[in-house]
Amino acid sequence: MKLRFRICTGSPASTVQKKILAVNRASFPDSGSAVFDHERRIHAWLQDDRRRVLSCLYIDLGTATVWNVCTDPSFRRQGLMSLLMKETLRAVRTLFPVLHLHVRKENKTALRAYKKLRFRVVGDSFAGEALRMSRKTI
Ligand SMILES: CC(C)(COP(=O)(O)OP(=O)(O)OC[C@H]1O[C@@H](n2cnc3c(N)ncnc32)[C@H](O)[C@@H]1OP(=O)(O)O)[C@@H](O)C(=O)NCCC(=O)NCCS
Repeated sequence: MKLRFRICTGSPASTVQKKILAVNRASFPDSGSAVFDHERRIHAWLQDDRRRVLSCLYIDLGTATVWNVCTDPSFRRQGLMSLLMKETLRAVRTLFPVLHLHVRKENKTALRAYKKLRFRVVGDSFAGEALRMSRKTI
């Protein structure tokens, strides 16, 4: 499978938006999904040669925080989120010296994945329900 890393400020094309939304809905059934009517965001995603969105995230430019990291359930545990995150870190390192994210304490899968990517826990967030993690981009 040939993978393509894509990144854009502002909104991706509407065809891509629909695909990102589908991955978000499958991954976060209990919460809201990615919103695109927001200028101050960078969206990043991985597509295969059939233009399917396999893994995606966005960065809030105001806080340098990564949100809505998710991989299509059919493509998990194949290193896709790790690849997406590494490519994103490389792409934004001239913009942000450090990136942040939040992860729910019970989300051991994501926590393990972020630690492998050298994000470190720097404190609690969301009234103690989540951990705030950070990592230098270089
Ligand atoms: C968390 C998530 C994004 C990981 O995506 P992914 O593409 O499967 O991640 P990767 O394949 O790059 O895995 C990276 C590491 O995470 C850990 N990991 C991933 N899936 C795991 C699983 N099912 N069980 C245990 N560890 C797991 C492993 O350490 C893995 O590295 P390894 O395969 O070399 O051992 C994905 O599980 C997901 O979309 N979950 C639902 C949404 C979510 O919780 N997002 C995070 C919000 S903070």
